[in-house]
This record gives sequence, C-alpha cells and structure tokens, in this order.
Amino acid sequence: MDGFPARRMRRYRRRIVQELFTETCMHVSNLVVPVFMEEGIDRPVPIGSMPGQSRQPVGDLPALAERLQALGLRSALLFGIPREKDAVASSAYAPEGVIQQSVRAMKKAVPDLVVATDVCACEYTDHGHCGIIGKKGIEDDLLNDPSLGLMNRIAVSHAEAGADIVAPSCMLDGMVGSIRAALDDAGFEDVLIMSYSSKFASGFYGPFREAADSGYSFGDRTTYQLNPANAREAILESALDVEEGADILMVKPAGYYLDILAGLRDFGLPLAAFQVSGEYAMIRAAAERGWIDGRVAVMESLTCLRRAGADLIITYFAEEAAGWASEEQ
Ligand code: PBG
Ligand code: ZN
Repeated sequence: MDGFPARRMRRYRRRIVQELFTETCMHVSNLVVPVFMEEGIDRPVPIGSMPGQSRQPVGDLPALAERLQALGLRSALLFGIPREKDAVASSAYAPEGVIQQSVRAMKKAVPDLVVATDVCACEYTDHGHCGIIGKKGIEDDLLNDPSLGLMNRIAVSHAEAGADIVAPSCMLDGMVGSIRAALDDAGFEDVLIMSYSSKFASGFYGPFREAADSGYSFGDRTTYQLNPANAREAILESALDVEEGADILMVKPAGYYLDILAGLRDFGLPLAAFQVSGEYAMIRAAAERGWIDGRVAVMESLTCLRRAGADLIITYFAEEAAGWASEEQ
C-alpha cells in the first residue's frame, strides 16, 4: 500500500489550479433572451408566476434591445400576445401583428441583435391549441396537414418583418420541410429555422401559459408533443427535422432532458436547450425563500446545459446571468 492513493483527484481541485481544468464555459453570447410582447399595452405588465419577468409593450423595445446589447447579449426569442384571438390564428400572420411590429422595432433599434420568433398558433387561437382544430375520430384534435399552411404563413410574415431565425414550436409532422419550402419560395433562403425538434408535453410549461395567455380550452398537448418517457422517439423526431432542413435543433424543457441533448450531438447541427418557465419559476421561488443560492443555482444550471451539449441556451435568466458573468471576468 505504498503511497496509496497514487492518483489523488483532489490535486486538480487545489484552488490555484481549478480554473486550468474547467472543461465547459458559458459565454454570454450563448444565451438567448425570451421576450413576451403584448399588443395594446403601454407599460410592462409583470407576470405573477414568473417573478422578475414582464410582458412588454412594443414601444419599449428600442430601450430593451439596447439594454441587451449593453449586457453583451446577442439574441432574443419573441413571443406574441395579440389583442384578438380566433379559431384560425389570423392575428399571428397579420402584417401589423404584435410580432411583426416587434421584429421591425427591434431590428431598427439594434440591427446587430439576432431576432428569433416563436412560430406557433396557441397564443393566437381562441381554443389555445397550436394550430387548426377539427374532428379526428370522435374527438376534436389538432389537424396536422391543414395546420402546415398556417405555419408557413406565420413564418413568412415574420421573415418579411426581418426575423433572422424562425422557431416553429407546434410539433407538427412535416413542419420544418414545409416552412423551409415556403421561406425559400418567398426569397428568404438565409432565414434560419430553429426547430423545437424534441419538445415534450411537460408540466413545466405552466407559468408560460399564464405569461403568454396560451392555455388550452379542452384536451391537452399529448397528441402532438412528446411523451417525457420516450428517449428514442425524441431522437427520431429531431432526426426527421435534420432531414427536413432544420438549421438548429432544440430540446425543451432543458434540465430534465440532458440525455436527449447529449444524444443529439452526433447529428452535428447546433443545439439549443430551452430552460422553460417552470424551471425558471422553481429556481426563483426557492431562491426567494432563501432555500437555495439563486446565483449559484442559475449559473450551475446553465453550465450543465452546456456540458450536456447545448450551444445555445434559451433562458429567462439571461439578463441576470449576463450581469453575473461580466462580474466574474
Ligand atoms: C408554444 C410554446 C410553449 C412554450 C414555448 N412555446 C408552451 C406550450 O407548448 O404549451 C413553453 C415555454 C416555457 O414554458 O417557457 N407552443
Ligand atoms: Zn403552441
């Protein structure tokens, strides 16, 4: 037992050498800021279930864009809350819709900011589902192929407004191929598609549905979003989106789905992880009560997403994390 133990792992953890051996870094430019844009308000409206987050008026966008830029943040993902909803989500593709106005305002204020838009119908439909509803067998359900044309229209209208990235989140079969063709036809072959390619039917979207007013009036989303129990199906979902021409894949939620994130790396496409509203609310709530150290927990959660394979992290903590990251430099 001479010299046992020979390999002393704690040598790597001597305070002076710790930094030399850090395998994973989180850069502010990896973070994407989700922003809720509400039509017809003139000051921010706080979101009860997401302390620290608000719905924003279009008029405040120039200031917001400049604030993000000053923090070193490079991109935002916009969600819209329209004044009018109907069965077919017509306000989602209106040229003067809330997202179309917001994209123009943001690109005008800070042209360098990468603007991504969520392409879905649930914030714009009166029934709250992600596309066109009709009878399937005996029950009402999301109709796949009839909803594709709607997604094409929404995506093209966002591109016309100046979006750099469109992010379809409806989990329809064929949505990426269909949107790619529509964008190309309209002359937007340089607009990227960030597909919500492995999106699970999750209990962690609760606060978002309050934030974006996108709860559904019947049924649930399990006939289109993935079963949290299924890993191989989740990988196959993303594989199909690779074939259909997605530029960026996404896993959502993030923290409980690290195996999926790690499993998508071999496709070679950039990967995004969406740390969702419920993940945000849990950390925030525990930190507010003093049960965890919020700053440590947030930075850890983001670093771990990078470690598992995320290039981009969409997180409601982006602004705070950017501030902390600059203090650590
Ligand atoms: C819309 C959409 C949802 C989220 C992003 N886009 C909600 C849902 O699918 O019900 C969730 C984001 C979050 O919880 O932060 N399809
Ligand atoms: Zn939706």
